[in-house]
Amino acid sequence: MSKTIIVSNRLPVKIQVKNGETVYKPSEGGLATGLSSVYKGEGNVWIGWPGKIVKEEKAQEKVKADLKDLNLYPVFLTREEIDDYYEGFSNEILWPICHYVPSYAKFNHRYWEAYKKVNRKFADGVLKLAEKGDTVWINDYQLMLVPFLLREKLPDISVGYFQHIPFPSYEIFRQIPWRESLLEGILGADLIGFHTYDDIRHFISSVTRIMGVNSTANHLIVHNRPVIVDAFPMGIDYEKFVEISSLPRTRSNIKKIKQSAREAKIILSIDRLDYSKGILQRLQAFELFLKNHREYKEKVSLLMVVVPSRDEVPQYRELKEEIDRVVSDINARNQTLSWQPVFYFYRSFPVEMLSALYQMADVCLVTPKRDGMNLVSKEYVASRVDEKGVLILSEMAGASKELSEALIINPNDVPGLSNTLLEALAMSRNEQQERMIAMRKTVEKFNIHHWVKLFMQRLNEVKSMQRSLATK
Ligand code: G6P
Repeated sequence: MSKTIIVSNRLPVKIQVKNGETVYKPSEGGLATGLSSVYKGEGNVWIGWPGKIVKEEKAQEKVKADLKDLNLYPVFLTREEIDDYYEGFSNEILWPICHYVPSYAKFNHRYWEAYKKVNRKFADGVLKLAEKGDTVWINDYQLMLVPFLLREKLPDISVGYFQHIPFPSYEIFRQIPWRESLLEGILGADLIGFHTYDDIRHFISSVTRIMGVNSTANHLIVHNRPVIVDAFPMGIDYEKFVEISSLPRTRSNIKKIKQSAREAKIILSIDRLDYSKGILQRLQAFELFLKNHREYKEKVSLLMVVVPSRDEVPQYRELKEEIDRVVSDINARNQTLSWQPVFYFYRSFPVEMLSALYQMADVCLVTPKRDGMNLVSKEYVASRVDEKGVLILSEMAGASKELSEALIINPNDVPGLSNTLLEALAMSRNEQQERMIAMRKTVEKFNIHHWVKLFMQRLNEVKSMQRSLATK
């Protein structure tokens, strides 16, 4: 019986050591929930890094054995590999390039060597398990070379590659010294997926110009093998967010938030710490709003959750310091004895607290400068079972293509964003409801299960198409 192998940099669980004991905690993010129906199926498996350096062979064997019961297969990374492959090539080259900040990219040759080595390590992990007829689904930019490495050795397997972050325009992508090898890597897949049509357009323009590949619309011919590039906007587990919205713990969190907010309205922002998220512009817009609309003084607070991320990468560390400084300036300039303009949390929260925050937020501010999709916007909508609240959403987030009933803004337009805050805070209940109902329908229908099903179906179709062409 053929099986499905999921591959991603991180496994859906991460190792934590508590009182000397190894425990496995779920990793953050929606991918794990979405793909659980796939990898938990009989014979299927998920390959990835377990989130911690495990040096000794004996300890690695123990982790392997523990994870085997969960259908998970670990790829162990050394300190050096994390530095150069994960923090280096993935997050100091590919991440800034794909998010249109090429000036942050450090084209260090050592990073490239590590990226090749670790992609080979992941591919070897797959090759140990894969057999003719199997399907392999590779997720994200950390593993661009894996599709090609598999195709070389096992031409008969089905390979899908999905990139969760934007694919940049040709002019940006071509700046990478190793652009050909990266594209050749991705082109080893039979189906290549992105969140939006713009990503497809940019990818096709890069492969036609850099690799000379022929394309007709989204069909490519790669060494006589048809390859399809398509858009699959990722969704969330809508039902789960609806269920969590009324759990006792969520309700008690709502009570606590109500007590501390008193009568003030709440503007909410939740992000991983990242320069692509537009956090500083958002703070500037909020301060401008307070300056232009004194009537809102003591009547509104910004509740900002920033989840620590990639803190070994210098630009992330610097951004953290800048956010700390700007938040404390805004508070120092504006606060009164009974009111704090910005509540800033640098930490992650359990989902029952996130749900309470979403439900209490009069406005949710999602203003990335660039984002492949952005699932926070969808989580906000799914949590609003009361059909109230206003979503302000950046046109640079993939989600803006689907959630067109949000107030769509340009994140670099600080005065424009400040005006939109006023519009959001003053929006009538009826208008809020109309917009929210429409968005809820979209998020409910195009949920994570729909996304997984669609990708897998399309991959099967591509494979059948290739087979029927081969027998002609
Ligand atoms: C983005 C990427 C994911 C990544 C996540 C968290 O959503 O698309 O591939 O896993 O950020 O980042 P981290 O570097 O902590 O894995």
